[in-house]
Amino acid sequence: MHELTTPKDMHAWSRAERARGRRVGFVPTMGALHEGHLRLVDRAKERTDRVVLSIFVNPLQFGPKEDFTKYPRDLARDRTLASERGVDCLFVPALEAVYPQEPLVRIASGPMADTLEGAARPGHFSGVLTVVAKLFHMVEPDVAVFGRKDFQQAMLVRRMAADLDFGLEVDIAPTVRELDGLALSSRNSYLDADQRRAALALSRALRAVEQAWRSGEADPKTLQRRGMQALMAPGVALMAPGVSPGYLELVDEQLRPVARVDARTVVVIAAQVGATRLIDNVVLGEGVGSDIAVRAS
Ligand code: PAJ
Repeated sequence: MHELTTPKDMHAWSRAERARGRRVGFVPTMGALHEGHLRLVDRAKERTDRVVLSIFVNPLQFGPKEDFTKYPRDLARDRTLASERGVDCLFVPALEAVYPQEPLVRIASGPMADTLEGAARPGHFSGVLTVVAKLFHMVEPDVAVFGRKDFQQAMLVRRMAADLDFGLEVDIAPTVRELDGLALSSRNSYLDADQRRAALALSRALRAVEQAWRSGEADPKTLQRRGMQALMAPGVALMAPGVSPGYLELVDEQLRPVARVDARTVVVIAAQVGATRLIDNVVLGEGVGSDIAVRAS
């Protein structure tokens, strides 16, 4: 596995590969790699000839009270996981390499970024899209793979690539969950045992909405209420006080609340478990059960 740290070297490597007729796949991450990230690598390997995985904890997307400094970092472990999974090039740029000066020009993330996560985290998606745009220029991939777990992010990146003519394909991969339903996330490492149990409330709420829809309920407001009830089920509240709901909404691919529910409707959820903000989602017609389930490592 190659390891590169400067945008210039990254660019040259990618250009050389493409000059040899190889297609380059790209998986951007903030590290603390888990099976969710590694499945994106598998997917990129299926679709392209060379896979680049980047690790960069992007300060621009963290709010002033968020976890930028304490975000989990373990490069030695990530290097081993990436190499074992067949990553061809690990790109780990330093902060000063990505931001040699404060970026005055940034991506305006538009109305799709004003709702849901964007409403709770002002400036977050502008920070995400700005770094993703920069990484796209550094890597110049043919295909970039993102996880459906961060549904709003994936949709915004796809939209940015189209609107700003990046000329690459944004591929969106299914959510990877633990066997009990918890979606894998680097932030799960913040949870203690009680909070880990309480965090199951998110996937349980998504399942409750899915079941109600499958039994014939089609009113978005009623479905939303069912999901909220499941999120705040007294059993869970008793097990671990401290699950506070963020939102539970039924939306379309442009993050707009739906008036009519169909199989493509996405149920998006956010909740705070202790000090940790968790998000999850499900496409109604596919269901939580159709996501990838893995044993915790
Ligand atoms: P990070 O949270 O490290 O996630 C990197 C990629 O892994 C994202 O595309 C995310 O959706 C995907 N991912 C995370 N958990 C997943 C899961 N359980 N199943 C499937 N995919 C999963 O998202 C970011 O980093 C950053 O915002 C980034 C795009 C790198 C820009 O800084």
